[in-house]
Amino acid sequence: MLSARATEDAGMRRPYARSTRHNAPVMPGLVIVGAQWGDEGKGKVTDLLAERADAIVRFQGGNNAGHTIVRDGEEFKFHLIPSGILYPDKACVIGNGVVLDPHILLGEIDGLRRRGVDMNNLKISANAHLIMPYHVLLDTAGEVKLGKLSLGTTRRGIGPCYADKALRLGIRVQDLLDEKILRAKIRTALEPKQQALRELSVQRRKLRKEAGEGDRESVEQAIEDAPDPRIDLHTMTEEHINYGHRLEPHIADTARLCWDRLDAGKTVIFEGAQATLLDLDHGTYPFVTSSNPIAGAACVGAGIGPTDISEVWGVAKAYATRVGAGPFPTELTDELGRHMLEKGHEYGTTTGRERRCGWMDLVALRYAVRLNRMSSLAITKLDVLSGLETLRVAVRYRSREGALLDSFPYHQSILHSATPEYDELPGFDEDITACRDEADLPPQARAYLDYIADFVGVPIRLVGVGPSRDQIVWRPEGA
Ligand code: IMP
Repeated sequence: MLSARATEDAGMRRPYARSTRHNAPVMPGLVIVGAQWGDEGKGKVTDLLAERADAIVRFQGGNNAGHTIVRDGEEFKFHLIPSGILYPDKACVIGNGVVLDPHILLGEIDGLRRRGVDMNNLKISANAHLIMPYHVLLDTAGEVKLGKLSLGTTRRGIGPCYADKALRLGIRVQDLLDEKILRAKIRTALEPKQQALRELSVQRRKLRKEAGEGDRESVEQAIEDAPDPRIDLHTMTEEHINYGHRLEPHIADTARLCWDRLDAGKTVIFEGAQATLLDLDHGTYPFVTSSNPIAGAACVGAGIGPTDISEVWGVAKAYATRVGAGPFPTELTDELGRHMLEKGHEYGTTTGRERRCGWMDLVALRYAVRLNRMSSLAITKLDVLSGLETLRVAVRYRSREGALLDSFPYHQSILHSATPEYDELPGFDEDITACRDEADLPPQARAYLDYIADFVGVPIRLVGVGPSRDQIVWRPEGA
């Protein structure tokens, strides 16, 4: 049975407001996306831009993401909850395009509540899909099966969950509110997975040996002795009904929430997780995530139209990093790469894995700028580059056959074997972590930023010079 509140919500609402946009001033639907391979510091940029917004909406991905925000010396880590939650007066939305693990989400809600954060503004789309325990197991099983060819997923069940969504076997947030529907749907979803789950129990012994590698927590979960209670239909249904009770106050018609605000001329931020080069369609497939982290996906993942978007901000590090397997043309496997790893604390927020590090790749960045039609760029972690005598930026690739490539190759074999060609710029020695104004930055740092902006054709509006919220330099619009 649907609860009274859900019925009321679904049936008693006024029809959506007639758009007043033809005479409203242009107010932005502002999208924020990662411009590289993720971990660019989108959380901090979202947190800063959120000051001018009325709502912050996540539109894809799941708890494979991780944001760290430092507020008044206090560190907050999020995996699912949008960065805007620290503002008491803004709606903070998990859109329909997100896949969410209810157990993880409730843990995050409880943790933030304990730290005194008001969670009333958290709204969750009834249409978002749930990562179920079997998705996590199948993600791990898939990676183990691939062995050396594994993608290096976060093993959070992301791929199997999106696969079930496409197969129309997914369980959605709204299903948590109806026990009968939930049970039937879990049964149907489990049926075609029995074979793979059986194989998994055979793999358990092998997994046990590997428990020290990779994503320890998930592997350990996966090797729990059978019978695994989470794969028991009855236990799983009970557990999820309980999750439903706890999440119900947050479940809402989130597309309408966005429309109401946009139609009233208010700013809504659409926050992407992961990043452009991990995009399922446009990234370095198959070494990608299973959703679309590019700006266009904000429409599908939040339920808005393309003309609702008037600004797209891309976030890139001053260098480049990547977690997991896949091509990374400017990767540095030497001492310098190690130096970036240590100085930039390049360890995953979600899995703790070391990130691969390398020079800024302007061929890839220009591709990301165009794919997302970015209007502004934020460059983070510029401080990490201080102390280097020379800064290098990749400006073209050379193919194995010797051809020069000015644009990002669409063919995987070309990309996998391409070598970058660099321009060199003078480095800077000064500690820039106390800079707050563009004029405070050393001329070489400014020249580096100008070079990037000129190359990709988009202004750099914001520069990160340290982890704290106030360690930023704003640049004027025309810069
Ligand atoms: P999945 O999203 O867990 O399926 O992992 C697919 C690929 O995306 C792997 O290479 C992951 O390391 C990468 N990935 C997923 N989420 C993030 C993220 O938030 N930051 C960086 N890489 C990510």
